[in-house]
Amino acid sequence: MKSHDHFFGRLEGFAVNEKNHLTLNSLDLVQLAQLSDRPLYVLNELVIRKNIRAYRQALSTYYPAESHIFYASKVFLNLGMCYLLNQEHTGLDVCSEGELFIANQTDFPHEKIIFHGNNKSQSELEKAIDANIFAIMVDNACELEDILKISESKNAITNVMIRINPVVEVDTHAYIATGVRESKFGVPIDDPSTWSLIELAFKSPFIHFKGIHFHLGSQITELTAYSQAIKKIISYIKRLHDKCIHVEALNIGGGLGAPYTIADQSLSIDGFIKELCQGICEEYQLNNLELPKLMIEPGRSIIASAGCTLYKIGHIKGDRSEILYAPVNGGMSDNLRPSLYQAEYSAAIANKMNWDGPTQKYKIVGKCCETGDVLIQKITLPQCSPGDVLVMFVTGAYQHALASNYNKHTLPGVLLVRDGAYEWLTKEQPYSDLIQHDLVPLHLRGRDKNLND
Ligand code: LLP
Repeated sequence: MKSHDHFFGRLEGFAVNEKNHLTLNSLDLVQLAQLSDRPLYVLNELVIRKNIRAYRQALSTYYPAESHIFYASKVFLNLGMCYLLNQEHTGLDVCSEGELFIANQTDFPHEKIIFHGNNKSQSELEKAIDANIFAIMVDNACELEDILKISESKNAITNVMIRINPVVEVDTHAYIATGVRESKFGVPIDDPSTWSLIELAFKSPFIHFKGIHFHLGSQITELTAYSQAIKKIISYIKRLHDKCIHVEALNIGGGLGAPYTIADQSLSIDGFIKELCQGICEEYQLNNLELPKLMIEPGRSIIASAGCTLYKIGHIKGDRSEILYAPVNGGMSDNLRPSLYQAEYSAAIANKMNWDGPTQKYKIVGKCCETGDVLIQKITLPQCSPGDVLVMFVTGAYQHALASNYNKHTLPGVLLVRDGAYEWLTKEQPYSDLIQHDLVPLHLRGRDKNLND
């Protein structure tokens, strides 16, 4: 197996050293894996920065009016990431009080934050209103009523945008398609109450109605749905304009997919933004409207390809089947995506690159007590032995974010790699965390207490 057979040839920063070990930014991944007994998430800082800059560059090339990037923090968020985003002059899309809390710990500028969510709590709304953020993305009529009441009681003027569901077919996994009719998010474009909702926001003295948001879904690589949605939304904006309702900003959500395996097509950030901007400019021109501020909320396309996960192989199992089980020291507790969305991944054995020995087909399984805890259904790898380091590629997005303590596995640490050096971005979770919030009521403490007493 020559190293160029591997998918990693398409990713940035990987190479093979003289020991035939896989390296990332010159760091030997076999050595890095020894830093922990748990899996390790590794992020390449340069790739994150490059992707953000690619968005900025493409927007300034293809969009002649003002544009703003709001990183979708649900994809991966911690303190260091907030600082990095701020250095890159990027805004933040949060969808919970927890995400806002993390941003606040870094003094992330409130005017660069937007707040999402289909069921925002009173406390979340109050916090967003008090912080006077760029805009709350309103999901439904009751939420707008709540915002109105809170704003009036505080004598505040709250910035809002309305999330409209454009109702188009979206080519992605059903669990992550949001622009379809069945979606729980936003208000449908063809529902008459959507119009009344916008009118109410526009007329209220306690609301600054900034514009319209739509988000089609995630892991999208086919852009037909975008052009359909853009046409529908902009013709809606034209109707609003004709009734003197001004839409100053248009937020087109996130969604650009990442290639995870050799079979996946890659779509460049530049190509994606070019096509979207051309579509938007054309429709605005056709409708004789002035271009709005354009907002975009990318997540996966910024950070997925910057990440990989290092696992160690355990004891190989199975002799009666063509495909052997190769268990790793992690699983669905650190990468839920294969179990949840049947997501596929590529991997390599970091200590067996340029391998010319025997190969074998494996099913890479985790150590959680679930039959569905399979990270890769079938992959051909150099014949594996316990202790081999398995690198799974493109794990920067929605892995750490979806990780859990199932089976009381502690959460892996996150290493940030840059210029041949690494730093911890999040430490591995200590076992003490697992009982940190447990309380033992007094009556449970006595050892020989007869329950019938
Ligand atoms: N904006 C909104 C309103 C969103 O709901 C999302 C993602 C994004 C932006 C960012 O989308 P992206 O650029 O990352 O595709 N856990 C799933 C993905 C869930 C997406 C949730 N919303 C997965 O691992 O595939």
